[in-house]
Amino acid sequence: MADKSLNEIRSTFLKYFEKNDHKIVESSNLVPNNDPTLMFANSGMVQFKNVFTGLEKRDYQRATTSQKCVRAGGKHNDLENVGYTPRHHTFFEMLGNFSFGDYFKEKAIYYAWDLITKDFGLDKNRLYVTVFHEDDEAFNFWRKIAGFSDDRIIRISTSDNFWSMGETGPCGPCSEIFYDHGDHLKGGLPGSKDEDGDRFIEIWNLVFMQYEQVSKDKRINLPKPSVDTGMGLERIAALLQSTHDNYETDHFQKLILSTSEIVKKKPDQNNLSSFRVIADHLRASSFLIAEGVLPSNEGRGYVLRRIMRRGMRHSHLLGSKNPVFYNLFETLKNEMSGNYPELNRAESLIKETLKMEEEKFLILLDRGIKILNDEISKIDKVLPGDVAFKLYDTYGFPLDLTEDILRNKSLSIDTKKFQSLMQESRELAKKNWKGSGDAAVEDIWFGIKDKLGATEFLGYETNQAEGVILSLLKNNKEVKDLKSNDEGMIITNQTPFYGESGGQVGDTGEIISGDFRFEVTDVQKKLGDLFVHYGKVISGSIKLNDSVEMKINETRRNDTRAYHSATHLLHESLRRVLGTHVTQKGSLVEPSRLRFDFSHMKPISEDEINKIEKFVNLMVSKKTDVKTRLMTPDEAVENGALALFGEKYGEEVRVLSMGDDDGKYFSTELCGGTHVKNTGEIGQFKITSQSSIAAGIRRVEALRDKQLEDFLKNKEKLLNQSSEKNEELIKDLTKQIIGLGGKPNIDQSDQKLLIKNLTKQLETLSVKVILNDKTKNQIKDEEIKGTKIRFQKVDGLPTKELRKLVDDGKKQLGEGIVVVFAFKDDKVGVAVGVTNKLTDKFDAVKFVKLSSEIIGGQGGGGRKDFAQAGGQDSNKINEAFEKIKSLI
Ligand code: SER
Repeated sequence: MADKSLNEIRSTFLKYFEKNDHKIVESSNLVPNNDPTLMFANSGMVQFKNVFTGLEKRDYQRATTSQKCVRAGGKHNDLENVGYTPRHHTFFEMLGNFSFGDYFKEKAIYYAWDLITKDFGLDKNRLYVTVFHEDDEAFNFWRKIAGFSDDRIIRISTSDNFWSMGETGPCGPCSEIFYDHGDHLKGGLPGSKDEDGDRFIEIWNLVFMQYEQVSKDKRINLPKPSVDTGMGLERIAALLQSTHDNYETDHFQKLILSTSEIVKKKPDQNNLSSFRVIADHLRASSFLIAEGVLPSNEGRGYVLRRIMRRGMRHSHLLGSKNPVFYNLFETLKNEMSGNYPELNRAESLIKETLKMEEEKFLILLDRGIKILNDEISKIDKVLPGDVAFKLYDTYGFPLDLTEDILRNKSLSIDTKKFQSLMQESRELAKKNWKGSGDAAVEDIWFGIKDKLGATEFLGYETNQAEGVILSLLKNNKEVKDLKSNDEGMIITNQTPFYGESGGQVGDTGEIISGDFRFEVTDVQKKLGDLFVHYGKVISGSIKLNDSVEMKINETRRNDTRAYHSATHLLHESLRRVLGTHVTQKGSLVEPSRLRFDFSHMKPISEDEINKIEKFVNLMVSKKTDVKTRLMTPDEAVENGALALFGEKYGEEVRVLSMGDDDGKYFSTELCGGTHVKNTGEIGQFKITSQSSIAAGIRRVEALRDKQLEDFLKNKEKLLNQSSEKNEELIKDLTKQIIGLGGKPNIDQSDQKLLIKNLTKQLETLSVKVILNDKTKNQIKDEEIKGTKIRFQKVDGLPTKELRKLVDDGKKQLGEGIVVVFAFKDDKVGVAVGVTNKLTDKFDAVKFVKLSSEIIGGQGGGGRKDFAQAGGQDSNKINEAFEKIKSLI
């Protein structure tokens, strides 16, 4: 029978447990969202940590998974061994079955035995097991279930048979199953001095979860004894494919073959480690990037960079002068996207990130290696720390990469000197830092940043995460705890909270733990990447090193990010409509509005505003996905990204592209902010005001979606306001107009336009005020011989408003005659309207002429249905009206 492929073995395992009433649960992310102390998921139980401790309930008590794991950085770190052994990996899949207070030792041993001997068909005579030395129960179950003699059940007293996830968390004694690959390989039984050889290989670890390590010296019982097992998929696949080398399985062979084709070299004993490193590191890098981890010089991003650069050094060793990794991705995708669709979703991000990192690093690598080789020829045993530092600082060689290069030469590095140079360089950065200028305040941050390093920002991917309290501050001083009602600041190792930058305001939300609740009202970034959460303790208290749950206010963030994306679309639209001289001069992105300042000499016309809004709304209506990439600043600019000149950017920048312009992105900008996933989320967009804030710099404000709807509703309401409110507005407008005259930094054409606009608003409002005032606007409706007639007299109204009043009157009467007089200063106006059906009986022109004579005017004119005239004597208005009445 042909060997089962790695993919088939995964599914055999999962199906076996499904058949035995386990729920197949998807792998969780590599970046754990439920554990602040862990860098990456390092085993299958991580996603169930809180289920074991009883904190979280799920609707199943038995589960089975194939979990993505990375063991690089943190407690379980295999990076330096990868490539040099047949079994080490940074990325691997762990198959597991879990019982949450359901079955315990006996069933766990039974299932394991049943699966490996029946479904996997392993030879019983090649199997051995270990148990924790005190665990007689497990010992006896193995005897009973497997029929093992005592010498095949080995008692181990070391931590090898006591599994814990990290410093804290669920833990318990474990029992491991070993396979004997045969005496052609070197190695002894577990517990013996040759146990590390290749002959006896651990294939499955059954952990009997009984305890929770709460702190370094405190361990408590779990509410219910549980089971967590872990079997490395790559390892069992090797066994079932009759090899002891994971890299000889079908899956790795495909990756190695592709590599070989690309670098045009066949694997042999001398270069095998390089092929292994590349295959392993490609997997780790691709899966991490798929989750949004991007190479950087801090935290998880730095572990990723170390993995990538180590891998890339090995492709260089194989003689490749061009980037290899991004070309290999296709093979990995074909192999694994069936189970991990994230590889499809993130394909372009993965490829571009791999390519960029490799291109950049290849240039540095050549030069760095030359320097290193020069130095090596001069030394005996120890590479000076300053060489390692120069390689790090100038050529981007992580320390473990230099160590990897020295590995086969039996050389070491003076790491003490290296660390002291690192410290010096931090000090220098501190001295050169140009901060807010408030030295006293900045000083605290330097101390804290030195001690804690950068905060890892998780908020591109998640709205909530756990964090560990690293520092607490009250009145600008570090304290040990914060208590109820304290106002203070919290710093954690990682955070989903966005810290104010790039115009986007900081997130708000809450930090909780038990009955402790801290309301976060703002988040600021200190010294670039130290995130400080400001707020107040609502209840409970908190101390250093506590773990906390951090949740941002999602609605507020969603609105803010939609405004941020809208700002990008606005920026590009301004450039397309007004010209490419438009450059950003400032920006404010809040959850309820955006404000954008840019260079432009003249006011924007109504027609231009319409065009700009149309562009933005078109991009919104196309509902296309927004794309984030990581590039060097130069590459970004080459790709057409809008950047702020004179701004300092780091080694890499995030590049945001959005909108669809005939298949190309509409807007591409450098940006560290948070954005919508799809432009459709932005909603309807409108510019609500424009002004000039300095010579040549204009400001627009805009609203979107719900706030825009509210604004439009309010505007309507405003027009129907009471006269009192309107009078206030009139005063305000008048002040603004007067104020404008005295502003020297506003250019002439702006000033005129603004004054014109404001004056227009002022007039409209004044008319409203007068018409709303019953002492100034008198209306009397009568009926004479079956004909309705309105008499309206308005004090203070300009005569140009007459026609509208007549039209309104006609509408209100239905059929009839409307006579309106308006007077202001010594000017009187009269207008008469006759509804259409009555025009063969009555003539507006005749009425107006008569009235005009009475009020001292010149006759006037018009048509039978509407006529208008002027005069000077407002005291005669009533008399004139009586005259008209007498003619009906
Ligand atoms: N947690 C255990 C391990 O990682 C079993 O899954 O080995």
